[in-house]
Amino acid sequence: MELLAYPNIASTQDTARQIALDGHSLPFAVIAETQSEGRGRRGREWNSPPGGLWLTLALAVPSPEAVRQSAMVAAHAVAAVVLVETGVRTLVKWPNDLLVKRRKVCGILAETLVRPGTTILLVGIGVNVNNVVLSDQLPHATSLREELGYSVDLQHLCAGILNTVELDMNILILRGFDPFGPWMKANLALWGELITVEFNNQRESGCVAGLSRTGALLLKNPDGSLKEVDAGSVYDW
Ligand code: BTN
Repeated sequence: MELLAYPNIASTQDTARQIALDGHSLPFAVIAETQSEGRGRRGREWNSPPGGLWLTLALAVPSPEAVRQSAMVAAHAVAAVVLVETGVRTLVKWPNDLLVKRRKVCGILAETLVRPGTTILLVGIGVNVNNVVLSDQLPHATSLREELGYSVDLQHLCAGILNTVELDMNILILRGFDPFGPWMKANLALWGELITVEFNNQRESGCVAGLSRTGALLLKNPDGSLKEVDAGSVYDW
């Protein structure tokens, strides 16, 4: 995958969006050493100092419906590469954050650009690798260096993530979400815990009970029945 690298930009999401709008061929990735206006989900600021991996991949996805699955598949790719390269096991906080011992090490921001005949997915991946995690982000965040006690080769990790996301996306396009289901279930964070999912000012609460075949979150109601949640942010505190 073509990699466009910058020392500092406002946000890799915005740069990738502009490059895609300019008609650059897909897929490509934008990486920055630092971001001055890094964005998280729900309009939150994403602190992006040197030493972290701040990256956006621009890919064609088969349909707007495939967006949530694509972002989960990107989380799978990051988790697999982090495990192989560093030995650190991460769990997926549905739909696509990665946690180490309940602390966030990676956040994924999936945005789309709908063009006539194509949906372009802008999958923003932020991994706290060797960067300092600020005290006001603690105790909810961590970095790979914090977990390991030593620095990780950022370029090597980046190359692995780019290759694996591309590979996984091809599997998703050819075979759907089924090949990822067992891994997702085995690596789902907060299993059995009571959580609240918020989407468009609506809230659904229940105990995490797995995933549907298409990757929706299953929540167990107090009476034992299950409900499916398609999208939203998970709150466990
Ligand atoms: C979240 O957990 O809320 C998502 C965080 C996504 C951060 C990444 S860093 C690279 C890309 N550029 C951004 O401005 N945001 C994403």
